[in-house]
This record gives sequence, structure tokens and C-alpha cells, in this order.
Amino acid sequence: MAAPLICPSILASDFARLGEEIRAVEAAGADWIHVDVMDGHFVPNLTIGPDVVKALRPHASIPFDVHLMVAPVDPWLEKYRQAGADYLSVHPESGPHLHRTLRRIRELGAKAGVVLNPATPLTQVEEVVDDLDLILIMSVNPGFGGQSFIDSQLKKIERARALIDRSGKEIILQVDGGVTADTAPRCIAAGATALVAGTAVFRGGPQAYAPNIAALKGA
Ligand code: DX5
Ligand code: ZN
Repeated sequence: MAAPLICPSILASDFARLGEEIRAVEAAGADWIHVDVMDGHFVPNLTIGPDVVKALRPHASIPFDVHLMVAPVDPWLEKYRQAGADYLSVHPESGPHLHRTLRRIRELGAKAGVVLNPATPLTQVEEVVDDLDLILIMSVNPGFGGQSFIDSQLKKIERARALIDRSGKEIILQVDGGVTADTAPRCIAAGATALVAGTAVFRGGPQAYAPNIAALKGA
């Protein structure tokens, strides 16, 4: 089985040293930088605006994977794309027309992702499989880092894997929330190809980033 893409969530990094943190995880073997954007309305937390993403972009050469927990989301797509987002992932609940939103993301030249909360069914993506590059299964309720993995989402990951295989498309299957060296192998066995991890990457400080990332890759 190929090693999964490891996408450190900078939500768990030291916000006073964000540029250094991003350089350190890239040097430690991260594949993408995962940026959690929260609006204090769609989720009960407030985080990273487009100007911060723009300031961080020169600190890494790997893709920026921007997870938008913002409603309405459409007015923000262009701003985060201009700030340097390579992937823009949206929740179906964050706007009235998911298909239009995904088309817009691709028009902007970014890769389009759909994020499913633990209670959101996989059927939400069935009709837009041709219009997305990534499906993100949330294994916690979005809003905070450091929560426990919700086991019931493993079945959804398996069903998403089957949906992607049936489609014949190159769609990345990503998991976010409570991913640790214990839960990562279960996600991979269920068919995930990319893992977001905050706490499990950033715990222990910069010297620990490389071994933390290697543990998630199963090395
Ligand atoms: C939650 C975020 C996650 C979070 C993951 O809303 O989408 O990306 O930062 O954090 P851990 O890995 O600590 O569960
Ligand atoms: Zn996230």
C-alpha cells in the first residue's frame, strides 16, 4: 500500500512562530500544509484569514490545502486562491449550490474538495463526483484540534473508497480529526490516501516532527 499524504494542520502549531513551523514540517517530510479556516459561525472557533495564508505561502513549497469552515463560503474562494491555496475544500452545508461552488474553485485554478461532517451522508458527494478532486471525511466535529477520533467514520471512509473506485477518477480520500499513529493505519486500511493531523504532528516540538510524520506514514 502506498504511504498516505501527510497534511499537518497548523491549527496545532505555535501561532507565534507560524512561518518557522511551516518550514519545519516541510523539512520533516510533510506532503501538504493543511490550513483550517474557521469563521466563528459555521463552527464555534475563529482562525486564519486570507492575509495570514498569503504571508505564510512563501515559507513552504509544498501544496497549501485550505479547509474552509465558513458560511457562506463562496465570497471567500477567490481570496484564499489569490493568497496561495492549491486545494480549497468546502462543506456542502456552507452554501446553497455545491456544484456551482466546486466549478468556481476549478475555474480559479485550484483543486476542489468536499468535506463531510460526521453526520453528513456520503450521498452529498455522489452527484458531484465529476467535479471534485478530493473528498475529506471528518472524523471529529469540526471546530477544534485535539478531539478523539469517531470510529463510526471508518465505515464512511470505506464507502467513499468504493464510490471513488467505481467512478474511475483520481480523487484523493482524506481524513481529518483525531488522526494518530493508532488511528492512521485504520484509516489507510479503510482506503484513505491522505491524512490530516494536528496534535499528532506538532506534539513534542520541532525535533519530534520528523518521527511524528514517519509514524503516521507507517514507517
Ligand atoms: C478540526 C480541523 C482539524 C484539526 C485536526 O476542525 O479540521 O484539521 O485541526 O486536529 P487534530 O489532528 O489535533 O485532531
Ligand atoms: Zn481541517
